[in-house]
Amino acid sequence: MSDSFEVKIASSGQIVVVPWDKSVTQALSEAGVDILTSCGQGVCGTCLTRVLEGVPEHWDSYLTPEEQAANDQFMPCCSRSSSALLVLDL
Ligand code: FES
Repeated sequence: MSDSFEVKIASSGQIVVVPWDKSVTQALSEAGVDILTSCGQGVCGTCLTRVLEGVPEHWDSYLTPEEQAANDQFMPCCSRSSSALLVLDL
């Protein structure tokens, strides 16, 4: 896993730190923001979340390489961020 980074909830402006040892969904859940998950491993597509700003670091095997390259959505159960902040459409 990569270093810690921050995610921002677009609808509320809330910023949540995602430590290196937690997934985005874990960190958000602890901050009271629940994202529906199923596999937790980037294969099922349940947790698909739109990215408004920032560059996700894709670790899933659900999105096609073209979809990953577009950087406008990611799988927060396993993927991370290569920018310091990701703004999520939540
Ligand atoms: S929960 Fe299955 S891809 Fe994230």
